[in-house]
Amino acid sequence: MPDRGTFSIDSVVVGRSPRMRAVFDFVRVIADSDSSVLITGETGTGKELVANLIHYSSARRHRPFVPVSCAILTETLIESELFGHERGAFTGAIKDRPGRFELAEGGTIFLDDIDDIPSSVQVKLLRVLQNRTVERVGGTRAIPVNVRVITGSKRNLKQLVAEGKFREDLYYRLNVVPIVLPPLRERREDIPILTDHFLGRYFRERGEDPKPSASAVRQAFLGYAWPGNVRELENACERIAQTCTCDQVRLGCVPASVLFHPQLEVAEPVIEMSAPRPAVSLDERLAEVESRLITWALKVSHGNKSRAAEVLKIKRSTLGDRIKKLGLDHLEVN
Ligand SMILES: Nc1ncnc2c1ncn2[C@@H]1O[C@H](COP(=O)(O)OP(=O)(O)OP(=O)(O)O)[C@@H](O)[C@H]1O
Ligand SMILES: [Mg+2]
Repeated sequence: MPDRGTFSIDSVVVGRSPRMRAVFDFVRVIADSDSSVLITGETGTGKELVANLIHYSSARRHRPFVPVSCAILTETLIESELFGHERGAFTGAIKDRPGRFELAEGGTIFLDDIDDIPSSVQVKLLRVLQNRTVERVGGTRAIPVNVRVITGSKRNLKQLVAEGKFREDLYYRLNVVPIVLPPLRERREDIPILTDHFLGRYFRERGEDPKPSASAVRQAFLGYAWPGNVRELENACERIAQTCTCDQVRLGCVPASVLFHPQLEVAEPVIEMSAPRPAVSLDERLAEVESRLITWALKVSHGNKSRAAEVLKIKRSTLGDRIKKLGLDHLEVN
């Protein structure tokens, strides 16, 4: 592993599902190139965290990482926010102000919710990427910028291009390196370790020792669909740490939204045969398929490994070996 400066990946980024491991391996491969990266994933899947990881794994790590959410900015503000403005450019522009691109000099800018930027700003952003210079609003100077651009999107940008809502030329500039973050429901193996990670963090923040969680809690967490993904899981753990006064985290401490919402159906997982993803080997893809089937078999067998082995038509000992190899031993399904 290369030196990652002050950023310790193990303490911040958690995941051992084959799909997340593939993402972490891929990040290591692409970190040091200056290519633009487009991170696509549902809300709360960790787009900003992965953008951070890329920055702190790269040679730019001693320079700034500047995140900008394009969704919360109004159309008029976004241009001055990104590119800066000169005094008098508009009402309220009382002094010269550099934009986020200039502030990120030598480092990385992370433009989240890029799917929300208006077409006028799309044109300007394209020009910045082509010329590697910015022009402040109301200014005439082209200011050179050396910034790596990472973008995040909840929606499929290619689809938006097809619908005429996003510029195709800009899409190709941004999507040089694509990273897709899977929703939590497609990598349920990560739920137990993320839960331990967040409960540990929030109990410690309150000056308490982390408490173990009851098996029924783990079961409820595994069965819930987590539409808000890792952020929702993190919030649930924070709330538990604030309210739990028992010696163990019990169902009574779990937010009602998690307990009383429809749980995932225990149907056999659908394994899509999508086109091969870059940087994911056949072995990794097979491991992914295998973990999903084993997770499912354990779930329908309520954690009984002999029964799960029967469902999968393999020996009990073979199942034990595969569970260990795939890192599924902490999966609680009974
Ligand atoms: N693999 C992970 N390990 C540890 N924490 C994670 C992981 N993924 C996400 N998180 C945490 O979950 C929260 C949401 O992550 P993040 O803000 O990166 O998501 P996002 O995809 O940018 O969400 P949005 O689309 O809503 O902007 C953050 O607090 C982040 O630290
Ligand atoms: Mg985000």
